[in-house]
Amino acid sequence: MLVNFIEMLNNAKKERCAIPHLNINNLEWSKIILEKCQELNVPVILGVSASAAEYFGGWYVCYSVVSSLIKSLNITIPVCLHVDHGTKEECIEAINSGFTSVMIDASKYKIEENIKITKEVVDYAHQRNVSVEAEIGTIGLAENKENNWADINECIRLCEETNIDAIAPAIGNAHGIYIETPKLNFKLLKEINDKIKIPLVLHGGSGITNNEMKELIRNGISKVNINTDLQLVWKKGVMKYIENNKDVYDPRKIIYSGKKEMNKKIEELVDLFETKKVSNL
Ligand code: 13P
Repeated sequence: MLVNFIEMLNNAKKERCAIPHLNINNLEWSKIILEKCQELNVPVILGVSASAAEYFGGWYVCYSVVSSLIKSLNITIPVCLHVDHGTKEECIEAINSGFTSVMIDASKYKIEENIKITKEVVDYAHQRNVSVEAEIGTIGLAENKENNWADINECIRLCEETNIDAIAPAIGNAHGIYIETPKLNFKLLKEINDKIKIPLVLHGGSGITNNEMKELIRNGISKVNINTDLQLVWKKGVMKYIENNKDVYDPRKIIYSGKKEMNKKIEELVDLFETKKVSNL
């Protein structure tokens, strides 16, 4: 069932657990994630960046693949199909293609411009029952040190002036492989969680220790974005398969050979996030 994230994230916030946002790249990844989350009976958010959408052949192709898989595999868990770090134009195109949720990322602009662009996307999305996440501060790449923490007053303004459904504040997290242990600002997270009532989102969830992840979730993180960790385990599975099967050239066998490792990682994440707390809500 394709839905927006509002109910699943509000439930997760109440139950102090988190919903996995897993980035998808192709049909195989979509199928593996949907089947595993169905088996575990947990809601899932499928994140699609503009470059992943382009790889699929466009937002509409991606929507068609995911919605067709949901039908043909009899997937009954709540599935949110979500734009990851979109511009206003990308969000609108994805919504028109059938996406049920978007993240408008106008965080590179000053707060007034961020609010203006985010609000335009919210107005368009909410009329179509589509949920909206926005970013504040800078959540860049782990290898660059360009990241700026979110400002608490700007977080409050972004929420109050745009009516977004979830917010992703920069608290020392970053995308990709962390070169040094990230210094997460728990004090800032607690302050944001005290002052802001909507669910909080953590980007750059790969590579964070289990203890820190639990503390992040205890302090209001209800959606955790994971991309790199799944890519790494998928690569490990594929390399092992090729090494042991040097004569195989069938792409279906090669691409799908990361499935076991991906399944294991998804199960670990669901356990760590305690997502099953919201299974039957
Ligand atoms: P990682 O690749 O670091 O897991 O980050 C994913 C993400 O935040 C997608 O928006």
